[in-house]
Amino acid sequence: MKQYLKIDEWSIIEESFDPHNHEISESIFSIGNGHMGGRANFEEQYSGRSLQGSYMAGVYYPDKTRVGWWKNGYPEYFAKVLNSTNWIGINIEIDGTPLDLATCTVSDFRRVLNMKEGTLSRSFVARLEDGKEVKVESIRIVSMVRREIGAIRYAVTALNFSGNVTVTPYLDGDVKNKDSNYDEKFWNEVEKGETADGGFLTLKTKKLDFHVTSAFAYDLTLNGEKLTPEAASELRDKYVSSTVQVSLNQGDQLVIYKYAANVTSRNHGLGQLVEAAQTALASAREAGFAALLSEHAEAWRDKWKESDIIIEGDVSAQQAIRFNIFQLNQTYTGEDDRLNIGPKGFTGEKYGGSTYWDTEAYCVPFYLSTADPSISRNLLIYRYKHLEKAKENARKLGFTKGALYPMVTMNGEECHNEWEITFEEIHRNGAIAHAIFNYVNYTGDKSYLGQYGLEVLVEISRFWEQRVHYVAHKDKYVMLGVTGPNEYENNVNNNWYTNRMAAWTMEYTLETLNYLKENEASRYEELVDKLGLEESETSLWADMIAKMYYPADEERGIFLQQDGFLDKEIVPVKDLAPENLPLNQKWSWDRILRSCYIKQADVLQGLYFLGDRYDLDTKKRNFDFYEPITVHESSLSPCIHAILACELGYREKAYEMYLRTSRLDLDNYNNDTEDGCHTTSMAGTWMSIVHGFGGLRVHDGRLVLQPSNPGHWTSYSFKIVFRGSRLKISVTDREVIVANETDVPAQLKVYGEELTVGGLSSVTVQQTVSA
Ligand code: BGC
Repeated sequence: MKQYLKIDEWSIIEESFDPHNHEISESIFSIGNGHMGGRANFEEQYSGRSLQGSYMAGVYYPDKTRVGWWKNGYPEYFAKVLNSTNWIGINIEIDGTPLDLATCTVSDFRRVLNMKEGTLSRSFVARLEDGKEVKVESIRIVSMVRREIGAIRYAVTALNFSGNVTVTPYLDGDVKNKDSNYDEKFWNEVEKGETADGGFLTLKTKKLDFHVTSAFAYDLTLNGEKLTPEAASELRDKYVSSTVQVSLNQGDQLVIYKYAANVTSRNHGLGQLVEAAQTALASAREAGFAALLSEHAEAWRDKWKESDIIIEGDVSAQQAIRFNIFQLNQTYTGEDDRLNIGPKGFTGEKYGGSTYWDTEAYCVPFYLSTADPSISRNLLIYRYKHLEKAKENARKLGFTKGALYPMVTMNGEECHNEWEITFEEIHRNGAIAHAIFNYVNYTGDKSYLGQYGLEVLVEISRFWEQRVHYVAHKDKYVMLGVTGPNEYENNVNNNWYTNRMAAWTMEYTLETLNYLKENEASRYEELVDKLGLEESETSLWADMIAKMYYPADEERGIFLQQDGFLDKEIVPVKDLAPENLPLNQKWSWDRILRSCYIKQADVLQGLYFLGDRYDLDTKKRNFDFYEPITVHESSLSPCIHAILACELGYREKAYEMYLRTSRLDLDNYNNDTEDGCHTTSMAGTWMSIVHGFGGLRVHDGRLVLQPSNPGHWTSYSFKIVFRGSRLKISVTDREVIVANETDVPAQLKVYGEELTVGGLSSVTVQQTVSA
């Protein structure tokens, strides 16, 4: 854990420059707009430790798999989000000496991520080796309005000297991925060119032929007056720059406005890329930096109107939740159903920027409640479109029918390559099925089932059907050799969560079939025909549902994470000396696997997903058993614990888990933020407030709230969209106010009481949980 950032309601603030924190800050201060984004690398050159990262959504590279020992069934490649052209670069030299924060003395350093308006700014005074001092103030945006545009205002003031400043804005495509398997670079140059005050560069990936064109232009002012000095271009392999020299008197301020357009072949024809980039660039430049900034800030204000959470009386918690919401909103904006949400968003390379079960289990609930339903629908359709590939994947592993969705994917193909996860962490299929339920249950859009949902459900059920087998001596169906969500145990038998989600999927599939038979008879016939669905299959599923084996310990009244769990020595985490943690950095893998320690919610994940099937006592017994042995070394863990702790009335635990999930990156809890932020788990943070403290559930199409106050806050409020209405729920120690911000009346239950909240009106209910 590392706390060096200032606490502020709307901003993340770093004061004073410590190179040891730089890579962490590069992750935390990342900015993006759904189409592109990047780490908070410096504009000017920096020779210290840094992870350069500029990413274009959906542009990836199939890097040839590298494993110690090849196993049949491994995929050929691991898809990697690509570090692409560095478009932010502006090198500065003062009388021939480069401005480089690693070699000069830095004072008054301040880096600010303004989350309200979506800007990254920085200011500092640098004293060069020869004693010359400059003040630098920069501000950067990745426009939320013009998705292909980024812009920078970079001001240099000569503090104690008169001399020449050389400015070199550039595009550099000669970049690499730190995680490249064979230390290869992934880009080839296609074309480049210089323009009067800028240039362009088109690169293409060495495989798959993704093309990215970047174009830049710049304007200069000296003490507010426009300046047009002579520029010299430099064109070399995958690099274009333009250099100008300006002579400054002491006290003069030179401002560089750099505009950049980044367009890809995902959205434009190959022959149109340069023109598309130049057109977007010209219009941005013509609008000017101030106008770009103001329209961008306005777009962020609109986003906050839909998704802000306000916490009164706890600035640290307030900052944290906004940071999580900010990162989510800048990572995925939902218009493009070919895109998904990588666990690190645009903040780093780890996890390849690909799609994991994180999307269905964590992100879908966030987008369901904070955005138009079409956005979560797009996330579901993404998987629908990958159904054929998921079927191929199952065949590849030897299943004769059904679909196994990949653990990690870009285009539907599996690209994860550790057998215990790729082949065994099959519970992901359950989360994908559950997201369909979640979407339909939340939105009421049952048409999704006939259009897309059923096909996915049937193919997943077919997979489960083959993955379990009947054992006569138990008269049960068992599932051997799996890895549950807790990746700190592999190849276990009868992971309760996986067995439960398998049976649940089959149940929901049968329910969906019945629904369609009764309500959309002709579509039902069509689908049964298309899927070749046999009565023998559905009756087998019914048998499997009835006879699924669930390991349990009757004495303790708990479900067992797997058959052999109680053979482990159970020692709570609190009894471990702190130097053992995090286990994944301190212990051998062998020791971890044999230990009782749980990486992330496993049985508890199931009790959260299927919460309405289990009573509070069952949840309590399981929580009390599993929580003390959970190390939360997956970012996806604390939020589920926070939600269940709220439900169980464990206020302190809920708050502890809330801080842990929400400040995971800000306080570097797991000592890994330098790799990038834990973007998908940020949706879990949102869930811990709305599903946790707010107690939001949807039962039989009815919105249900059970708000409690964690005790550390004067009040909090959150917004949700639900079936055409947008509600603001405010909770204090005394009351809950449900304000309807739309003219669509809303019906809900608060503390079990039925309420109708008319359009543009509000209803107040006494707070009964934490009073
Ligand atoms: C977790 C997985 C998760 C992945 C990506 C892993 O550490 O154990 O559940 O899908 O990270 O976030």
